[in-house]
Amino acid sequence: MKRTIILTLAAFSLLACSQPAKQSAPSFEEVLTTRRSVRSYDASKTISEAEIRTLLTAAQEAPSWANMEPTKYYVAIGPEKRAALLEMIGGNKERVANAPVLIVSTFETGKSGFFRGQQTNEVGDGWGAYDNGLSNAYLVLQARAMGFDTLIMGMRQADAIRAEFSIPESEAIMAVIAVGYRADEPSRPARRDLDEIVKFF
Ligand SMILES: Cc1cc2nc3c(=O)[nH]c(=O)nc-3n(C[C@H](O)[C@H](O)[C@H](O)COP(=O)(O)O)c2cc1C
Repeated sequence: MKRTIILTLAAFSLLACSQPAKQSAPSFEEVLTTRRSVRSYDASKTISEAEIRTLLTAAQEAPSWANMEPTKYYVAIGPEKRAALLEMIGGNKERVANAPVLIVSTFETGKSGFFRGQQTNEVGDGWGAYDNGLSNAYLVLQARAMGFDTLIMGMRQADAIRAEFSIPESEAIMAVIAVGYRADEPSRPARRDLDEIVKFF
């Protein structure tokens, strides 16, 4: 009996050792410090629609003015739309040519910062841009948590993108975001001294 128990335990521990090691989720600190703007991607790796859905679900958790959720996304994951969008990002093309997914982010104007059609304060549609940036911040951090890399691109041709993706005039086109896997280790650009940007009272 004792021998059977020992043999069973030995078999279980052997089985446990033969399983591939499960990668533990990175800490929030790791996500923050390893997220970088990546300008060189590994062409051999792909990203699925299901993974992009997970990313965008995280982006939806971002706060927004009165929960207006003005941000919208247009995902170029198929080869034709991706190739077309690559031609609409100017000098960024070479940087993200091997990123498997490109995402256009827009926001619906006249929502955040407005109440019954009236601008609530001097910022106006700036609040929509604010909400869009928050959503995109969630997106790039979730991407990093999933092992992906990103590049937010403000350099893009809005008119051409609007026509290609049939984006209505009621939406302001903001950044195009590349998602993929880093080919090289990016360096971290220095940040300003904290006391240059903060005043405590
Ligand atoms: C709104 C916005 C627009 C940007 N546009 C571009 C761009 O067109 N091309 C590019 O290579 N990087 C672009 N960047 C990336 C910044 O250059 C980068 O975030 C900054 O240098 C800090 O580096 P880090 O993201 O690695 O911390 C943009 C970033 C933001 C937030």
